[in-house]
Order: sequence, then C-alpha cells, then structure tokens
Amino acid sequence: MNAALTSASCRFPELSAEEAAAMIDAGSTIGFSGFTPAGAAKAVPRALAAKAKEAASRGEKFRVRVLTGASTGDAFDELMAQADAISWRAPYQSSRTLRKRINKQETEFIDMHLSHLPQMVAFGFFGKLDYAVIEAIDVTSDGRVYMSTSSGASPTFLRHAEKVIIEINQHHSKRLGEMHDVAILPPPPNRSPIPIHHPLSRMGAPFASVDPKKIVGIVRTDEGDGVPPFSAPDEASEAIAGHVVRFLIDELRLGRIPPDFLPLQSGVGNVANAVMAGLGKSEDVPPFYMYSEVFQDALVDLMQNGSVLGASSTSLTLSEPQLQRLYDNMDFFSPRIVLRPQELSNNPGVIRRLGVIAINTALEVDIYGHANSTHVCGTSLMNGVGGSGDFMRNAYLSIFVAPSVAKGGAISAIVPMCTHVDHNEHTVQIVVTDQGLADLRGLGPIERANKIIDQCAHPMYRDYLHQYLDTATMGHIRHDLDRCFELHRNFLATGKMLPG
Ligand code: COA
Repeated sequence: MNAALTSASCRFPELSAEEAAAMIDAGSTIGFSGFTPAGAAKAVPRALAAKAKEAASRGEKFRVRVLTGASTGDAFDELMAQADAISWRAPYQSSRTLRKRINKQETEFIDMHLSHLPQMVAFGFFGKLDYAVIEAIDVTSDGRVYMSTSSGASPTFLRHAEKVIIEINQHHSKRLGEMHDVAILPPPPNRSPIPIHHPLSRMGAPFASVDPKKIVGIVRTDEGDGVPPFSAPDEASEAIAGHVVRFLIDELRLGRIPPDFLPLQSGVGNVANAVMAGLGKSEDVPPFYMYSEVFQDALVDLMQNGSVLGASSTSLTLSEPQLQRLYDNMDFFSPRIVLRPQELSNNPGVIRRLGVIAINTALEVDIYGHANSTHVCGTSLMNGVGGSGDFMRNAYLSIFVAPSVAKGGAISAIVPMCTHVDHNEHTVQIVVTDQGLADLRGLGPIERANKIIDQCAHPMYRDYLHQYLDTATMGHIRHDLDRCFELHRNFLATGKMLPG
C-alpha cells in the first residue's frame, strides 16, 4: 500500500483489490455500487470471491452481506455466489448461481421495491453499513464522488457507510458527470415537494458526497461493464410489441394520452426492447420521453433518430458498442439523459405526477389480473420484484406483458390463481401476451376473467380456464379452492400443466 495522487490531485491510499478485500472482515455488510452490471464495483468483489475460495480451501467460510442498487452482472453476483461469498443479499439479483443458493436457503434474500432501499439503509433496517465500495470516474480531496454508469443507491451508501473504498475506473468517459443529478431526500415528515416536473428536470449536483475521512483507499480499474448485447426479438416478443403499440396509438387517438405523449418506463429484457423498438418505428407515435430506471441498447438508436427526446434513468445499461457510440457523441447525448439515484428515478410521487406509462414483464397473470413477477410455483425465486412495483402501482397506465406460454407450451402464463402475487388486481390495468391484449380498466372480476382468457390465454388453455371459471364457487370473485392451483400441481408432478 502506498499513498499516491488521484487524478483529482487528492491524497487517498492506493490499494490493490486484494489489499482492499483483506481489510473486510467476514460478516461485514457492504453497499456496493451497481444497478444492473452498469457501474457495478468490479475489482473488490472479484478479490472477495477469491478470498472466499481461499478460505474454503482451508475448510473455512468467508461470507459477507451484500447490498447493491439492483442486479449486477456475472462478474459480481455470479462470481461471488460461485465462491459462496454471500450470506445475505438485497434488494434484487439475477444470477443463476445466487438464485440456486437463495432457493436452497443457503443465502438469505430480501426481495423489495427498489425505491425503498435508500430510506431503509438510512434508517438502519439492515443494521450497520460497514463498507461502501463504489465505482467512480473520479473522487476529489473534499469528497466529491463522480459516479460511473449508474447512480442507484451509491449516494446513500457513501453517506451511511463507516468506511469507503472507491474503485476508480478509467474505462469510462470523464463527461459522465454531466448526466448525473444527485440528491438525497431528507427524512420525513415535512419533506418539500420533489422538484421534478419533467423527465429531464434537475434538482441536485453532478456528484455524490462522502466524508473524505471515511475513504480508506482507492482501487484503480480499467474495465467495461460487460453488459451482454440484446438478441433479435423472437416471434412472441414481436407480437407483444405489436399489440402494445396499436393499443397506445388507439389511446392517443381517443385523447386518453395527450398529443405530445406521456413518458414511458419499460422493464429490462427482449420483450421490453422489442416494444421500445416498435414504438420508435411507428409513425403514429410522436417523439416521447422515458422516465425509467434502465437506459438500454434500443434507446441509443431511438434517441439518435429523434424518436426518443430524452430519458431519466438510474443506469446506462449498454453493451460496449452502444456505450462507445454514446461516449463518441456526448455533445448530443449528455443534455438528453439524466441519471438519478433510485430513490428519485423510481419515486412513486414523481411517477404519478408525470403520468408514466409503465410496461413490465410477469411470469404469470391470473384470470382476475393479479401478477406474479418473482416466484415460480410460489416457491422458487426467479430474480425479484425490482422496480416493477414502484412503477406499476403508480403509473398512469400499467401494462403487464408475458409470452402466453413458456417451456414450449408446458406452462401457461394465464392461470386461475397466481401462486405468488407481486402486483394485485387493483394495480394491473392492461395484460398483453402474444395472443392479444386485455384492457381491464372499468371491468368487474368476471368481465376481467373472460377478457383475459379470450384475449391473452394460449388457445390450448382457454377451454380449461373457461371451465374453471364456470364451475368455480359463486361470489364477487369466483374461485374453486380445491382446483385453483391444479395447473401448477400438474406441472410439478409431470412437467406439464395440462395432462396428455
Ligand atoms: N413458470 C415457470 N417458469 C417460467 C414462467 C412461469 N410462469 N414464465 C417464464 N418462465 C421461465 C422461462 O421459461 C425462462 O426460463 P429459461 O431461462 O429456463 O428459458 C425464464 O422463466 C425467463 O423467462 P423469459 O420469457 O426469458 O423472461 P424474461 O427474461 O423477460 O424475464 C421476468 C421475465 C418476469 C423473470 C423478469 O422480467 C423479471 O425478473 N421481472 C421482475 C423485475 C422487473 O420487472 N424488473 C423491471 C422493473 S423496472
């Protein structure tokens, strides 16, 4: 370890990733930067995974408690989970190995709304935050931290951690600071209204702040985020995108969406990318803004061709070629993108105020419109609720999309009763599958059920679902408590929801 100058001419100890990891004790709670792979700490997690492996070779365990903004990439959660280095994790994840460990109860996982995380850290619900490990493009001697490709919960981690390690990653454009707008909400009550009246409103500073006395060291890196490129949309995604685009154009014609459109939020993944591309291509959709948590590949093209006017996000989740295109054209992109902490990108009040149209993916939706985004057959975690609840509950239009069947038809996305409910019937307004679209607004339960079955269920499941509805116990909502999970029980017993 030797003291050296950082690029901003300040003195903090320079550490190797291994020296930084050596400081961290087993059982520590660490807030890492990262919202998706974007801006995730890289070198220190890798060194912690190596430390855990080395401990395992001696028959010992080295495990830590991990907070991030949201998911990370293979270089973080996957690597640390493979090394069994994570004892406890919040608020979201999408790693195959970590998912397995969580579902075997080897790792405790707190599945929660992403907008809640900063406040919960601030109020100490997760206990003492021992370390913050934050990726940045620069840090100054008075504690200004210029974050890289995501903001997420990093400003809060920097404020509340006892000790701070900064990973300075020179891979990124020094102009990223132009996009960041950092503010931390004061504690309730008597908070002033949040001054975001437009997706591109700014209210804070281009940097996060930290008490420089807490910085125990700087680790230098030069490494991209490793965001995988999107594959071309499949047939089901294209069909879903077509239904969503037609629906939004109709809403525009009917005057339910104003002529200059409303800001959009879209979840991550191929369906979301296909929907964004479809909206961008449509000549009937006016140029629009995004108020979202993730700025992903499709948006670079859409912004350059004028279909998307601007975007609020908390991360730039871009594959390397798209990120480099953005860096090569910073004069164009920097005034059009605002990166906010997740407490603000996902803030329920702002989402309601702006009238966001939210589009997210569900694993299954039941005939009354409850949606399950997280737990297969009610037990096995997939990823987590992420920001979907923040947006869907507060959106002007909340649209759930899902392919009508999974695993070649063995699973129906439309079921009599969801085995786990992340978004209830009072939140879900529109359901879309490759089969069609069900607009549930203003409909009673049985009207909703018939519409979802006829418009959204795959034809091979429609008779079963209608028969279930017709024979279920009479009430405001009809259910047959002996049969409501029959499809799931069949699937668990035979690998198929329908016999035969
Ligand atoms: N039961 C069991 N498995 C199902 C299923 C169901 N009802 N529906 C889908 N699956 C399986 C698929 O077969 C696929 O399995 P595979 O990986 O073995 O091929 C897997 O789940 C993922 O499905 P896919 O169609 O590829 O969906 P996706 O990548 O678009 O992800 C969610 C869908 C719901 C898992 C994902 O969107 C998510 O985690 N959402 C919650 C968080 C969120 O909405 N974030 C954005 C907020 S802003």
